[in-house]
Amino acid sequence: SGASRPRLCFLGTGYLGATYAICFAELGYEVVGFDVDEDKIHRLASGEVPFHEHGLPELLRRNLAAGRLRFTTDMAEVAEHGDVHFICVGTPQRADGMGADLSYVEAAVTSLAKQLTRKALVVGKSTVPVGTAEWVEQLVARQVDPALGVEVAWSPEFLQEGFAVEDVLRPNRIVVGVKSDWANSMLYAAHKGVFDLAATEDREVPVVVTDFATAELVKVAANAFLATKISFINAMAEVCEVAGGDVTQLARAIGYDPRIGNRFLQAGVGFGGGCLPKDIRAFQARAQELGAGEALRFLHEVDLINLRRRSRVVQVAAELLERPPGPAGPDLSGTRIAVLGATFKPNSDDVRDAPALSVAAMLDKAGAQVRVYDPQGMDNARLVQPDLGYVKTLTDAVTGADLVCVLTEWADFRHADPHALGELVSARKVIDGRNCLDPALWSQAGWTYRGMGRP
Ligand code: UGA
Repeated sequence: SGASRPRLCFLGTGYLGATYAICFAELGYEVVGFDVDEDKIHRLASGEVPFHEHGLPELLRRNLAAGRLRFTTDMAEVAEHGDVHFICVGTPQRADGMGADLSYVEAAVTSLAKQLTRKALVVGKSTVPVGTAEWVEQLVARQVDPALGVEVAWSPEFLQEGFAVEDVLRPNRIVVGVKSDWANSMLYAAHKGVFDLAATEDREVPVVVTDFATAELVKVAANAFLATKISFINAMAEVCEVAGGDVTQLARAIGYDPRIGNRFLQAGVGFGGGCLPKDIRAFQARAQELGAGEALRFLHEVDLINLRRRSRVVQVAAELLERPPGPAGPDLSGTRIAVLGATFKPNSDDVRDAPALSVAAMLDKAGAQVRVYDPQGMDNARLVQPDLGYVKTLTDAVTGADLVCVLTEWADFRHADPHALGELVSARKVIDGRNCLDPALWSQAGWTYRGMGRP
């Protein structure tokens, strides 16, 4: 059944699975989303997206109403419905801080396999250490009667938060790791909606059909490259800081070379989020296990450069507040600092490994009285860093502040009026941790402006 219009299941309705389930229903597929978290399933089933993603709530409600989309905690219902099952559960960083925790993958695959009664394709989407697809194949084989002919494939995703709907409906490529023509044709059918949409817009979606290991590696290689690009420009920022150069102009100038490209060259407080930091660590750990640790040793530097940017903000804060660097770092006690931003990037409510929140915690630890404001991330920030000072508005954050730190480039902050803010603060000093403000404008309004890697 289902070769022309397979019925799809997405196991794990976190950010990845929920977005995919909703978007594939939008493409016309009959979709079931599964999770063990009853609250999540209940919210999705009643039309509420449990995280912030532009455009998704409308699509959820439309497709629930159209009857193409269901959510369940019942694995038997999943096994009954699906011709293709996408595994979208989380692969968090292990407690030891390096490798990936595969226990959710194991639980999802095992409980699905136990319920399968007919031929189906199990497709891994989660970001995993290379070798996981082979292991999933063994997990399935252990539970399923070989006569059913259940197969495994791997198809990584490349969603960016804030652009996830577009990234699913209009991906810049599709990668599939397969072992058989049947798996390949099922995956083709499962993505036919994406290809058809592209055709109506006169586009083509390139497809890379490959083996399991390559498919798994594509994902971590892409994220490692992006992280490296950001740390490269942040390393240049470090050099600019001592040499008196301006990294934003340097980035613009090198970015005109199409071999380099101008994207992901924004120097600042560095990368955060649920993917880049954890993925480069897990990738190193896996390479080490495989005996190729040396090949990825540079990723350790990428990580260190990234973390140094956070300390740099504290250092500049101490300079601006005229606090000498003590043996245990600067003493900022008695100072009031407005931290603008908590999320790891704008247009998201995600604070996982967010540079902004981590800098806020460092400033707090150095003794400053910190007031954090973020347009979308306050609830999540309170969960992750409950002890910081949070305020409800931008005005509350900056009123009486001795220093303002812009650490996430929300439009509200980029477009803030330096004259108006200047009336509220006790001293006009600003650290632009994302190089997102116009230094001339702020200087003209009487502010002492410090960017990242700018004179
Ligand atoms: C990232 C990748 O971009 C996606 O392709 C990938 O699918 C995803 O991880 C994932 O593995 O699921 P995302 O975490 O949403 O997506 O965020 P990015 O837009 O990549 O930004 C990551 C971090 O880098 C942010 O903290 C951002 O502020 C920072 N960044 C980005 C910079 O500091 N400079 C830049 O030039 C670009």
